[in-house]
Amino acid sequence: MNIWVVGAGSIGMLLAAKLALAGQAVRVVTHSEEQARAIMDEGLRLVEGDNEYVARPEAIAFRQLKRLAPAAAQAPDWLLLTVKQQHLTDELMTVLGKWCARGTRLLAWQNGIGHVERLADHIPASRLDTAVTTEGARKNSLNEIHHTGFGMTRIGCAIEPGEAEERQGTEQRQKKLISALHMAGFEVSLSNNMREIAWNKLLVNAVINPLTALLQVPNGRLLELEPLMPLMRSLYEEGVEAAHAENVRLQEDLWEQVLEVCRRTANNASSMLQDVTAGRPTEIDWVNGALLQAARKHGLTLMANSTMYRLIKSIEAKQRQSGE
Ligand code: PAF
Repeated sequence: MNIWVVGAGSIGMLLAAKLALAGQAVRVVTHSEEQARAIMDEGLRLVEGDNEYVARPEAIAFRQLKRLAPAAAQAPDWLLLTVKQQHLTDELMTVLGKWCARGTRLLAWQNGIGHVERLADHIPASRLDTAVTTEGARKNSLNEIHHTGFGMTRIGCAIEPGEAEERQGTEQRQKKLISALHMAGFEVSLSNNMREIAWNKLLVNAVINPLTALLQVPNGRLLELEPLMPLMRSLYEEGVEAAHAENVRLQEDLWEQVLEVCRRTANNASSMLQDVTAGRPTEIDWVNGALLQAARKHGLTLMANSTMYRLIKSIEAKQRQSGE
């Protein structure tokens, strides 16, 4: 299969490396030319347990991709979109939309919510899928990725397909991608309720991500800080309130799952902690910010989430000021 991975951050590099090692034709679309060159010259290194592998995907910078005229003959079967929400620009979505008009399907891997609505303005809804994953990975350099924790991935249509015929064609293509991901060593299953799955994961991220970023601790440490537990619980319960107001069904043991993710990914630096440490903008707008937005529509106030939101936004502002 011909697969393009758009966005060479931690999840993008992990997917590109493992799919290429499993024999798929992979092209990585990077933000910088420097990263594309590093991958082309030296390969994409994957560290997994005690093993190290070198994958050889093709790499191209977004600036070059923009110059290519989308042609049906070269259109990939899949675009795996792994940029963070803050990098989902209109320009990027317009370029990807042109390839999707040629028959390519797009699978969006973003954390949080809100991206489906933005993507649907550029990509035909019938070609748009979303993924929710708990894979853990850390980018060590421009061309080295460390697989820090094996997780699970659910994929499915972003918006339920209408016609039975369309549904069948879609499912066949999704199953082919799932089998490629299985061969690459990922645990993946198909779901027909991605909205619900995205919300369940959102509540996990809304507890773990801002707290790990503020306290500068790996996920597992949250469970060892006794005074923190009531705050974790408040963040979670406010999320439940917002989800119910939005008519989203949550898994009954979701609170247990929040604790389990902390335990299972104990040594991981959450994506928000990684962003703050590197002085990058975070995904707070699409995590706790998205909860606040949903709550506002129903006249709800989420005090704990609002405090997290303001604190992370303040860190971002401080970093911007010191970078000026
Ligand atoms: O954003 C993250 O880092 C991950 O979604 C999770 C599950 C919190 C694990 O680190």
